[in-house]
Amino acid sequence: QLRSMMSTSAALKVTQDSDSISDVDWDNLGFKTRETDQMFIMKCDTDGEWHRGQLEPFGLLEVSPSAGVLNYGQGIFEGLKAYRTTDGRSLLFRPEENAKRMIFGAERMCMPAPSVDTFVDAVKQTVLANKRWVPPVGKGSLYVRPLLIGTGPVLGLSKSPEYTFLVYAAPVGDYFKEGPAPIHLKVESMYSRAVHGGTGGVKTICNYAPVLKAQLTAKKEGFTDVLYLDALERKYLEEVSSCNIFIVKDNVIATPEAKGCVLPGITRKCILELAQSLGYKVEERKVDVDELMDADEAFCTGTAVVVSPVGSVTHRGTRVLFSNSGVKRVSSIFYKFLTDLQMGRTADTRGWTTEV
Ligand code: COI
Repeated sequence: QLRSMMSTSAALKVTQDSDSISDVDWDNLGFKTRETDQMFIMKCDTDGEWHRGQLEPFGLLEVSPSAGVLNYGQGIFEGLKAYRTTDGRSLLFRPEENAKRMIFGAERMCMPAPSVDTFVDAVKQTVLANKRWVPPVGKGSLYVRPLLIGTGPVLGLSKSPEYTFLVYAAPVGDYFKEGPAPIHLKVESMYSRAVHGGTGGVKTICNYAPVLKAQLTAKKEGFTDVLYLDALERKYLEEVSSCNIFIVKDNVIATPEAKGCVLPGITRKCILELAQSLGYKVEERKVDVDELMDADEAFCTGTAVVVSPVGSVTHRGTRVLFSNSGVKRVSSIFYKFLTDLQMGRTADTRGWTTEV
């Protein structure tokens, strides 16, 4: 019902072209936040009904100091990208999958969620309103960040009486400082990311700050990021701080099953499908860390990281180097396949892209 109230043809305040932004170094975007033009905001009151959402100039939020999200972490988020195509269109990649994952996560976090249509429409409006921030072809993408947060005041531990659904966007390049080059992972031996019955399988904000400690330590030691094992036996792979992990051995591609402790990544889902269609045997199962140390190849997947080859893994003081033989890597096949599709360079026979 909300969809009829919103429209992608809503009056947009921004009409400039990408070349009218003079102070952005498109060649060195990195992955950082930037103030863009507009954000989308929609609120849900105590009655559980969503009010009409709208675009507003990008800016600060006004929330109560006792907002549920600030005090008790009641919040989830999503991440998706819009790419500019050579013929000037902007393409989103599987936005309805993000919408469905938000609904799933909202249920776990006791929050009302926008419908799939409302979510996708809000994302499209945000991309259109920030179109001049979609990087030129080949320079990166517009990263879209939908947030669902408890903004109503609470003091005792309880559900927030009001929620805000917000979508903002920023132009980004490579996530890791290595760019498209292989990354170096440390297998974490002290901290855990998730436990059975916890929230590791949903994209709640509560999963991310707790990994900073391990990540910062690993970075100081020269690693790119941290790979977490299961909290119980410290034996099976779970995920890297911001992405899923795959291993390749002979013709088999395996990744940890997304059953509660591992986020069901959308890029992960695409890779599982693509790998199968390319003739690989695909396995979603428990993956022993020893298998990783013995693999032919390993790579990470995620919206932000896309498909990142792993150059080395260090576990209990042992470092395994993976061969970096360029185009022969399975990860580079997937990277090319996905990004060609996302940038509209190849025909989309799967219906994964959505034009904005
Ligand atoms: C993404 O890949 O979109 C994420 O949300 C991960 C985040 C830590 C950047």
